[in-house]
Amino acid sequence: MNSLHKNFNIAAHTTFGIEAQTAEFVSVESITSLKENLRTAPKAGLRVLGGGSNMLWTQDFPGRTIHVNLKGIRRVSETNQSVIIEVQAGENWHDLVLWTIENQLAGIENLALIPGNVGAAPIQNIGAYGVELKDVLVQCSVIYRSDLSEQILSVVDCKLGYRDSIFKNELRDKVVITAVQFRLKKPPHAPNTAYGSLEQELKGKPKNIEEVAQAVIRIRERKLPNPKEIGNCGSFFKNPVVSKTKFESLQNKYPTLPSYPVSEGVKIPAAWLIDQLGYKGLRRGDAGVHPHQALVLVNYGQASGAEIWALAEEIQTAVFKKYDILLENEVTRY
Ligand code: EPU
Repeated sequence: MNSLHKNFNIAAHTTFGIEAQTAEFVSVESITSLKENLRTAPKAGLRVLGGGSNMLWTQDFPGRTIHVNLKGIRRVSETNQSVIIEVQAGENWHDLVLWTIENQLAGIENLALIPGNVGAAPIQNIGAYGVELKDVLVQCSVIYRSDLSEQILSVVDCKLGYRDSIFKNELRDKVVITAVQFRLKKPPHAPNTAYGSLEQELKGKPKNIEEVAQAVIRIRERKLPNPKEIGNCGSFFKNPVVSKTKFESLQNKYPTLPSYPVSEGVKIPAAWLIDQLGYKGLRRGDAGVHPHQALVLVNYGQASGAEIWALAEEIQTAVFKKYDILLENEVTRY
């Protein structure tokens, strides 16, 4: 069994870098150890941690935090066109993207530099620059916390939506994802470069998967703060989807409002709404809104979780008052 730490400061394990104590902390490197730590969980509860890139701790936790540190990448099967790989939950997401590029396997190059671990990727259905995890996901291996049974959930079972999945709903706090399978394409590749800012960065020329990943990395480095330098969790809110009627009335009032049609209605960039309200670059103590991307809340050093949360609530209220749109959090608050 991996060693159990008492009264452990979680700051270094979350990308917000905010201090909070967990009464117990254990990093597990095998399924046996994971099951043992689930089985012996204290009454005060359990929290499962991957790369800590989508969580805001606003208070200490009296229970046990299990850091899923399972490692490994293997080829499961292949055809002439594609390869299925299985990746253990504790692998770093961006390292996996680099591995796929080295191995000439296409599919996740647009998702370069997303912080976090592989096991959390299906929970959020991570997405960027025109690609979502659901485009390449085959299945997830999970362990049920209640009886420690192991099961496979197919991509359909995972009910993936925009930054949403079964793991945020019916299975919330019920399972631990231990491994994820992806279907990736062998050469010749046809990278997806249609997303506006990516196309601009590539200057419209066809590129190979390595060049696409490099372009995504350049865009992200320009716009998004590096969590190793400034604590953050990427987009704090989801982009809201409104009905066509609601969008038309907003557009009458705000003719420059950007929008993207989606099957459920019209998606509006939350960053634009927040930016218009003058929040971009705002700083309250060590809590702030990033100067290059209004959707990203940042910890300049010593902000508490409660301070970041208060700023998020203030923004949410201001957006609601002005636009009658309730922003949903992308980040999970604890
Ligand atoms: N905009 C502003 N002000 C800003 C930033 C953006 O007005 O400060 C407007 C611009 O009109 C811009 C539009 O918002 O064209 C969209 O901005 P951007 O392309 O930066 O994307 P986003 O909608 O803010 C989403 C994802 C990101 C992902 C990018 C690129 C969500 C919640 N966020 O951001 O994902 O990297 O698209 O695909 O869907 C994340 O989830 O943590 C994340 C970073």
